[in-house]
Amino acid sequence: MTTTNKQQKHDKLKPIVDDILKYGDLLLVANKGVGKTNALMQLARAFRLQENTRVVIVETFPKWCNEFDELPFVFVNDSDVVTTDTFLELNEEDYFVRTSRDYVIRRGSEFTEALSQTDILFTLALEDTDRISFFIASLVYSFYRKNYLTAYKYGLDAIDQHVVFICEESQNLFDASIISKRTFNKLRKMFSETRNLKIHFVLATQRLVDINTKIRGRTRLMIGRVNVDDYDLKIRRILRHKKHKSDILSLPIDQFLYVPQDRIVPFDLFKQKGKPYLLSTKPETETKPSWFQRWIYNRELINNDREKQKTV
Ligand SMILES: Nc1ncnc2c1ncn2[C@@H]1O[C@H](COP(=O)(O)OP(=O)(O)OP(=O)(O)O)[C@@H](O)[C@H]1O
Ligand SMILES: [Mg+2]
Repeated sequence: MTTTNKQQKHDKLKPIVDDILKYGDLLLVANKGVGKTNALMQLARAFRLQENTRVVIVETFPKWCNEFDELPFVFVNDSDVVTTDTFLELNEEDYFVRTSRDYVIRRGSEFTEALSQTDILFTLALEDTDRISFFIASLVYSFYRKNYLTAYKYGLDAIDQHVVFICEESQNLFDASIISKRTFNKLRKMFSETRNLKIHFVLATQRLVDINTKIRGRTRLMIGRVNVDDYDLKIRRILRHKKHKSDILSLPIDQFLYVPQDRIVPFDLFKQKGKPYLLSTKPETETKPSWFQRWIYNRELINNDREKQKTV
């Protein structure tokens, strides 16, 4: 493919990507199996081509770590997020037991390093939604806090990079009936401020009705073929003034309606370029050991030899 052809392919998505970076967030809505993941992978690739834009992808099923383009990824084990129950002793009330649930996240230095990569994918093998949401909220919070402090000290213009969180399983972030109230409230509060801080969410759902109204009302929508229920309950009204409103129940798998621009967007079938690689495996192939690492290594060899000689 020539460079101009390549350019044209990405130019198709550029108006959408620019619009999202300017105005906030995107929620992709389409029925099961009608091209959401495919569209999100194309969008993620398009975001990565933007200047001053980083993507953080989070998945709870190992799909992107096999099928997306080359980028570093981290595998988060079930044992990396640990529940800590604090027993509260409250003498003045007649409680039998009262606990307050909290979590700690292990592997702090690895996850910090992961967040310093330009683009990164987290594949979560966490078994319950509460810990999944806690983990994702913590990732969002680390960017939120950093940008908040930059804005506070130097003004909003000093934030020089966009961060795009891509998470297909939007229910893990914004479905109040699934996640704990505390995490939900924390995410919701951040969500109302993130756009100003150049933090964006790109999410997907099968049914619009599953997403909290406060969240739904603030994102830009991209709608593929939806089920009739969802259409009758919500989507018909949202699209009442749009010229494409009647196409939505029969859209082919490769087409979505970008609602703010009332435009049908075609998506090509995603073809992987390179492969994601585990972040921890990169240094061996990439960097030469420094004189200090060689010195430590040699010293260990010498010490090992000495140990061996002692035991002989
Ligand atoms: N633009 C496209 N062109 C051709 N085939 C496509 C396109 N998009 C998706 N498909 C095919 O349709 C299948 C389902 O797509 P995809 O996995 O993206 O759907 P989904 O909405 O994410 O599904 P699920 O709800 O199960 O997560 C894929 O296996 C893919 O081969
Ligand atoms: Mg999918």
